[in-house]
Parts: sequence; structure tokens; C-alpha cells
Amino acid sequence: ATQHVPTFNSTIFAHRGLPSRAPENTLAAFDLAADEGATWIETDVDIIADGTPIIIHDTALDRTTDHRGKLYDIATAEELAGIDAGSWFAPEFASERVITLDALVDLLNRRKLNANIEIKANEQGAERTIVLVDAIASSLARLDDEREIIISSFSQPVLMTFHARHPEYAIGVLYETAALYDDWLSVLELCGASYIHPEDAGLTRERVQAFRDAGYGVNVWTVDARDRANELLNWGATGVFTNIADQLIR
Ligand code: G3P
Ligand code: MG
Repeated sequence: ATQHVPTFNSTIFAHRGLPSRAPENTLAAFDLAADEGATWIETDVDIIADGTPIIIHDTALDRTTDHRGKLYDIATAEELAGIDAGSWFAPEFASERVITLDALVDLLNRRKLNANIEIKANEQGAERTIVLVDAIASSLARLDDEREIIISSFSQPVLMTFHARHPEYAIGVLYETAALYDDWLSVLELCGASYIHPEDAGLTRERVQAFRDAGYGVNVWTVDARDRANELLNWGATGVFTNIADQLIR
């Protein structure tokens, strides 16, 4: 991907694909989002034991697969072939697998999709954080030039590490409302961010305006009501993460 220049158009991010119609974070969910006209998807990334980045939201496999336990106990990417990431959602998705970031990159290139890559967890210490960010950057290097990427995380150390080592990628700092302290501008600057990604709950017009006045794009999560999405975008939010991208695009 080329150097990302934030455009600040209203962006609908298909959150984990289209998770109401296909199992979240699978090829089926992202393909469906593309079929419905999405141009941006959101997804969650972490690394397994051998350092391969994979696409999964939780640290545990339990909720979204037929396996139990932590993803850190998966030794190699080959083991992903034995994990069913679709049956929990509906029997017709039994062939869906937990995919690698490399497989997602192939899909982004093929379907001409842009992606918000949310880096998860940061549970394994500084050395693994470097393995994590370098492995993600190395996968993303295979993207076509015209693909756009935002790297986001709730973990500010992850974002600072990513930005220091791979400054060519746009950064978005994720915030839960309760954790949005008055030091946000310092955090955004230290992370090299172009975007702030605040939680929807309690977000006000004044706050959106303050973020925009400071020069940042504002992408809000997770907005599943059309009226609220319109309100936020009218206030100057640059995008919304939504589980109903198909309905908001229409
Ligand atoms: O990236 C926006 C949103 O996905 C953050 O929360 O828990 O859905 O990954 P979560
Ligand atoms: Mg996410």
C-alpha cells in the first residue's frame, strides 16, 4: 500500500464483515460486505505461537470456533485448517476457517477493499509486540498500491511501536468512552495518529468538533442505528464502524 493520506470522506466500515449474515471475520463475511458495496472493512488481528498474524476478535477460540482455548496455543498456520469458524453461526458456513492476515490481504486485493486493521490484545510483552507489528507490516506489504489501510488498537504501546517501525501506515487510536481522558491530544500525537476512534456511547457534538478542530479524522464504533450514524456524520465524524453496513450503504 502507498502512503495513506486521510481523505475524511464519510466512510462506512463493515465491522468484522457483515456479521449479521455470515460468521464474523471470515472470508464469507468480508465477501458478502464487498457484494453489498462496502469499500472498507474492519477486522481484528493477533498472532499465534509461531508469529503468524490471524484474523480473530477474541483471545479465546471458544465463541467463534469449534475449538477451545487461547489462540496463542495454536502452533502454526497449518493448524487453522482444522478449526471450524462457521458452524457456530449456521451449518451452511461449516467450511469457513480462521484465516491468516495473508489470506485477508489476498481478498482485499481481489475485491478491491480497504481495511481498518485493529491490532488486539498485547498480552505477551514487549518482545512479542515487536514480532506482532513486524509480522503485520510484512503481510500488508503484499497489498496492491491503491489499497488503503488504517492501523488501530486500544493498546497505545502497540500503536507507538507500529508507528515507530512502520511510519508509512495511518494510525487510529481506539477509545472506550470511560478511558477517554483529557490527555487524548498528547496520546494521538505520541502515536503518530491521523484518526481517533471513539466509542459511540456518550459521544457529543462538542467532542467530535474538538477532535476535528485538532485536525483528526473521527471514526466512531459501533453504530448500528441509521439515525445515529447520520447524526454523527452530520456532526463531522469521518466514519462509522457498523454491523449493518449493507443497510447503511443502501
Ligand atoms: O475497531 C472498532 C471496534 O471493532 C472496536 O471494538 O471489540 O468490536 O473490536 P471491538
Ligand atoms: Mg474490532
